[in-house]
Amino acid sequence: MNSKGRKPIIAGNWKMNKTLEEAKKLAIEVKNNTLARAPEVEVVICPPFTALTEVASIIKGSHVKLGAQNCHWKDSGAFTGEISPIMLKDVGCEYVIVGHSERRQYFGETDEIVSMKAKAALAHGLSPIVCVGEHLEHREKGMTKDIIRGQVIGSLRGIEAEEILRAVVAYEPVWAIGTGKTATPEQAQEVHAFVRNLLIDLYGLEVALKVRIQYGGSVKPANIAALMSEVDIDGALVGGASLEAIQFAEIVSYEAKGK
Ligand code: 13P
Repeated sequence: MNSKGRKPIIAGNWKMNKTLEEAKKLAIEVKNNTLARAPEVEVVICPPFTALTEVASIIKGSHVKLGAQNCHWKDSGAFTGEISPIMLKDVGCEYVIVGHSERRQYFGETDEIVSMKAKAALAHGLSPIVCVGEHLEHREKGMTKDIIRGQVIGSLRGIEAEEILRAVVAYEPVWAIGTGKTATPEQAQEVHAFVRNLLIDLYGLEVALKVRIQYGGSVKPANIAALMSEVDIDGALVGGASLEAIQFAEIVSYEAKGK
């Protein structure tokens, strides 16, 4: 728990990377290299589906938690190529990323779909990491808050107060993903505070203050400390830098200076 009263959560989104052998090696390294920080920071890794079972057995009983990168909203059935929340829970996942901008952009996921996925994940005891984020043209046109408002309200539709406490919101500006262009801590904090205010409107102050909001987009060892020093930034969703154990461990070991 930090001075904000929320346990920081650093999650690695491996995206479509790592063969089974590579994933196993990385999971072992992450487990060993992040152990020292385990009491203060929640560490999550989200390998591709093909590596979930093996990675689960590597991190079992350790401080590292398992997440998936996507799920379907139905329990089972004729949905070729899809994976249900029940299956993810069955192999040891505790988290699942839903509504990542790459899913929204390349696979047509709408806020309605994202909310169905988040609801289904919660119904099966998984914690959804619900992603929102504006594109560069939105930011340049001054539309960031309108976009984020729509995505937060739409993606959390139907989620009750007791459920949102088990969820995480991730703010990932699309222009900062994989580009090396991080939002400045001030830019990120401004949107995180805005998301927090939306959560207050939806769930009330007491609940909203307990919900963790992660930042994602070119998070690296060099910029994590400044981001984590902001009052409404409770963790990071790390892409590229999570594919290399030493870099990821350095991110987990950030030293935040409270503001
Ligand atoms: P990068 O850290 O590679 O910018 O990716 C961020 C991301 O999309 C995490 O979900």
